[in-house]
Amino acid sequence: MVKAIRVPRKKGEEMRKKLSSLGILDADYFPSHDGKYVYFPVVKGLRGYKLVEVKARRREVREGFKEMLREILGKDGGPLADGIFSSYDIVGDIAVLEIPDNLRANEKGIADALLRANANIKTVLRKEGGMEGEYRVRRFSFLAGENRTETTYVEHGVRMRLDLAKVYFSPRLSHERGRIAEKVKPGEKVLVMFAGVGPFALVVAKKQKDAKVVGIELNPEAVRYFSENIGLNGMGGKVEAVLGDVRKVVPGKFAGFADRVLMPLPKNAEDFLDVALLAAKKGGIIHFYTFVNRKDGKEAAEKKALEAAKKAGRKIEILESREVRPFSPSTVQIVVDFRAA
Ligand SMILES: C[S@@+](CC[C@H](N)C(=O)[O-])C[C@H]1O[C@@H](n2cnc3c(N)ncnc32)[C@H](O)[C@@H]1O
Repeated sequence: MVKAIRVPRKKGEEMRKKLSSLGILDADYFPSHDGKYVYFPVVKGLRGYKLVEVKARRREVREGFKEMLREILGKDGGPLADGIFSSYDIVGDIAVLEIPDNLRANEKGIADALLRANANIKTVLRKEGGMEGEYRVRRFSFLAGENRTETTYVEHGVRMRLDLAKVYFSPRLSHERGRIAEKVKPGEKVLVMFAGVGPFALVVAKKQKDAKVVGIELNPEAVRYFSENIGLNGMGGKVEAVLGDVRKVVPGKFAGFADRVLMPLPKNAEDFLDVALLAAKKGGIIHFYTFVNRKDGKEAAEKKALEAAKKAGRKIEILESREVRPFSPSTVQIVVDFRAA
């Protein structure tokens, strides 16, 4: 038997919304009904309503989040439930939700459902807007679980500590990191511009044991985590974290250094192609990430690379261009891999 609030069936939808928005709907149990009433299992009482004891069917332990979302959002909430379900990220033990403004009233219930649905999630955060500033950091608000933004994330066998509120991080680039790492040959020197907490650098070093990898990063907090992550993965001596602006650091220390240069900062990336070309050896490969209008396609990204090469007096050969991921309905992120002669 569980504690429940009883309402006439025709008031059921209204009550479900109310309980969900107050975060007191007990998502571990299904609501039940008889001919006249609906019984909503609750985690605590609601002023003005008597608690009744009912038999309720327990959900399968850690039942799917999607099903819970549909339950919380009601019979017309299917598309909204699907939207939330397809857009949330998990970074370590933190889940990050994108909740549209019209569902703010339900966000606590949604976050609690996610905690119940996945035993590995300890914290649920809500995205507040997009990436901001030079460091490309996002703001979050806390929704449920443990109130923190720091976690440990594992990808391609690499462990990384990071604080989502202080550094850029996206698990959505995991495939891309694997793709690049597969290309690195023994003995290569790899320069990761805009290195963040080190995901590209560390995944490359993990897959290609005989590579020397350097990452340059402007955000001191990110470099602090990057250095910690080098230690965590036993990669001291193989991977180097450098604090600074690539514009200042590359000319003095890394001109003509790299067999391969990575540029994982798609926003205004073309402004840094001259630096990447400076860092790349003759015959070196550059992985250039950039945003373009979807309608302009890969050719627009290739054009940026060709123009920068012309300016720098280097001939380039485009090896491959591909869409990395959609960024917005009108914008896509493209990567152009090219060799600079
Ligand atoms: C989109 S993030 C990518 C971080 C990391 N590569 C990753 O995938 O998680 C871009 C990073 O570039 C850094 N950044 C921006 N301008 C920079 C510059 N001029 N020199 C070095 N790093 C810079 C930002 O602080 C941010 O951490």
